[in-house]
Amino acid sequence: MTGRRTLTIIKPDAFGGGKAGLIIALLEQSGFRVKAARVMHLTTAQAGEFYSVHRERGFFGELVEFMTSGPCMPLILERDDAVATLRGVIGATDPAEAADGTVRKLYAESKGRNAIHASDSDDNATREAGFFFAECEVLAG
Ligand code: RTP
Ligand code: MG
Repeated sequence: MTGRRTLTIIKPDAFGGGKAGLIIALLEQSGFRVKAARVMHLTTAQAGEFYSVHRERGFFGELVEFMTSGPCMPLILERDDAVATLRGVIGATDPAEAADGTVRKLYAESKGRNAIHASDSDDNATREAGFFFAECEVLAG
């Protein structure tokens, strides 16, 4: 049984470029409902902890620098089969490889500056939702 919640972040390139509204509209058209949302400017420590699984990767420094370059918008989204469905809606990590109509195809600049994050498993969705939101900040239902 797959979960109904996932965590997304409209990354600094897309939020700073004024694309948040368009991206949320696309997510809602894909059947997601927003259960929690906030706007925040991540610190280096927060970005490093959030992406700690990538700490040993060559792109880690660049990733943290990008994620702290401006405000971003974390959201908890809900629908059936939330994690897999959202991964499909956002598209491949590199926008050059993303399918037509996906968020990254439409709004990402490059593999590094790629507009949006999405959790990649139910366990990570739970961890990432808890990273940004207390349970009392998440709409029930
Ligand atoms: P995300 O975690 O942000 O949803 O992205 P993803 O699953 O599609 O990709 P992942 O492998 O988890 O990488 C996390 C983020 O690191 C940046 N990245 N840059 N320059 C590069 O080769 C490179 N590779 C990854 C991207 O911002 C990617 O979304
Ligand atoms: Mg990932």
